Parts: sequence; structure tokens; C-alpha cells
Amino acid sequence: MDTAVGFEVSQGELFHDVKSFFESAPPLKGSDSITQKVNEFVYQNSQLSGNAKSIGVVCVTSGGTTVPLEQRCVRYIDNFSSGHRGAASTEYFINCGYAVIFVYRRGSYQPYSRYIPEDSFIDLFEVSNNSEIQVCNSHASVVKKAIKEYHSAVDGRLLLKLPFTTIFEYLQILQVVAPSMSCLGPCGMFYLAAAVSDFYVPWESMAKHKIQSAAGPLDMRLTQVPKMLRMLRLEWAPSAFCVSFKLETDPGILLQKAEAALRKHQMNVVVANELATYKREVILITNDENIRIRQQNEGGDVEEQLIKLLVKKHSNYIECFGKDF
Ligand code: PMT
Repeated sequence: MDTAVGFEVSQGELFHDVKSFFESAPPLKGSDSITQKVNEFVYQNSQLSGNAKSIGVVCVTSGGTTVPLEQRCVRYIDNFSSGHRGAASTEYFINCGYAVIFVYRRGSYQPYSRYIPEDSFIDLFEVSNNSEIQVCNSHASVVKKAIKEYHSAVDGRLLLKLPFTTIFEYLQILQVVAPSMSCLGPCGMFYLAAAVSDFYVPWESMAKHKIQSAAGPLDMRLTQVPKMLRMLRLEWAPSAFCVSFKLETDPGILLQKAEAALRKHQMNVVVANELATYKREVILITNDENIRIRQQNEGGDVEEQLIKLLVKKHSNYIECFGKDF
């Protein structure tokens, strides 16, 4: 047993847990269309297509997954994540020449529109004297920049967005995306910034209707979600460059947990962050070194330096991988 990261699960147990997780999950809506979109996107951005515009494809996951407590869901458990890190990182990856599959929580921050004030969408617009809707002058430059950059990414086939809400949808989407990206070998990257539930209620044991408070205190047993990082490494995309995240609230255990995750899940990089400072500082952890990255100026994005460093590490990885074949 690895006391730093919890119970060690054997490979056989992992495959069994993964199988029962997916068997018990409600079917993913639009599964065929998601699979087709992902396959096309990966193909267009792979060297196989002969005219790839990107230097690699990265799957960025972003936002928190929910755990429904009822099949006709009224109540759910949520995970902390606004999606800002994933949205900002997506923009920087595209700037560096990558194509991005952005797997995001519905309603979370989006690439290119994260600067637009979220609560005041209606405040962005006004009705002109001839009754036409126009963007207010005060926001015009921000909106123009967002529209231009967003359309250039989407029309250039450099951004594919796939939404999720529940832990079931998130892992089902990852299960489609990862094997599809395996044809990219070391040129594929996973950047798993989503906050993923560790516990869930299996669908068949979940209450069908709204749980009634008249029945007294709620006594509920949650099942452990299998660690999909291991599936990614072992089965779905074994040659991909994998970056996972470790969030802790206690700075005293952060590095120890992140280093343990790097070894246990055979990640190429773990990005460690602490809840109190995660917007200003992250620590990039690899087998060789720990690099602390700090926000350079007030309001700046820590992701700008983080992605530059990851891109360098990824290109070294591709080079080394090439030599081994
Ligand atoms: O979105 P923001 O508000 O900007 O915040 C960004 C962030 C703080 C959420 C982000 O930087 C971050 O730390 N994300 C990971 C948070 C997290 O939930 O860590 P974890 O310890 O639960 O999981 C660690 C890794 O294991 C994650 O990469 C996750 O994808 C993966 N995991 C988790 C559970 C599970 N069953 N399978 C997994 O593979």
C-alpha cells in the first residue's frame, strides 16, 4: 500500500473497476457524433492527413465534474473549478501551434471569452437609434478581439469543444478522445486540469426520483471512481505526453502528493497547486526537477509561462521517443 496516495489497486482490479464504472453509466448522449467529430479533428491535425496545420494535438480538460445523487437529478455533489485555467491554457496552446480538444464543464470559462464580464452579458450590448443591436463602445475592443481569435481557432480547425456536466459524461468523453488520439503517438498530449470526482453513486443504485427529506437523515454510500490516469497510460494512449494536476489545501503535503502521483501514474509532468495561491503560482514536477512558476505581473496569466515550458518538454519528449524507434 502506498500511504502517500491511498490504497494501491492492482491492474486487474483497475480494469474490473473501470469496466463496472462504464457498464453502470447512463449512455452518453450524442456519442456517435462526438466520436465522429473527434476522429475527424484528430485526423485533420495528424501528419497522416498530409496537411496538418498544428504541431501536435492536446486534450485540455477543464472545470469540475458533478456527481448526481438522483437519476432525475435535483441534487448533486460538485467539484471546485471555474475552468479559467483550462480556458487560458487552451489559448496559449493554440498560440504555440497546437490543436486543442477542449473538454469542458458546461457553463465554465471558455477560451477567448474569459475576459468578457460573465454576469453582465446583457450590459455588453445597446440598442442604437435605428433600433439595431450593437456592442457598447466601452466593451467593443474586447469583444472584437474575442470574436476574431475564437473564429480563427475554430475555422482553422484548431479548436474542438466538447461539453460535460457529470462524472459519467466526463469519463465517457475521455474514453472516446484518448484512444482516438493514440494514433498521434508521442505528438499527442493530455493536460488534465479538470477537477474530477473521486466518489460517485453507481447509476443502478441511485434513487430514481428526488430523495425525500421526510425519510429522515440521508445515509449514502459512495463508490470510488477508478483513477483514469492509469487507464490513459496503460491502455488508451500509452505513448502520449501526460500532464496531470494536483490540488491541495495543505501546503505541507502538496509536493509529496504530487511527486507520488507522478511516479504512481507514470505521468510526464504533474502540476502542483495550492488552493490559496493557485492563480499566482504553480510548481511543475517532473522526474528530473521541480520548477516553480509565478505570475509575473498583477492580472497576468501564470499559464503563459506554464504552457511555454510544457511545449518545450513535449518537444524534447517527441525527440527522445523518435530515437527509441
Ligand atoms: O478551474 P480553475 O478555477 O482555474 O482551477 C484550476 C484547478 C485548481 C482546478 C486546477 O489547477 C487543478 O488543480 N485541477 C485538478 C484538481 C483535482 O481535482 O485534483 P485531484 O487530486 O482530484 O486529481 C488529480 C488528477 O487525477 C487530475 O489530473 C484528475 O484529472 C485525475 N483524476 C482524478 C480522479 C479520478 N477518478 N481520475 C483521475 O484521473
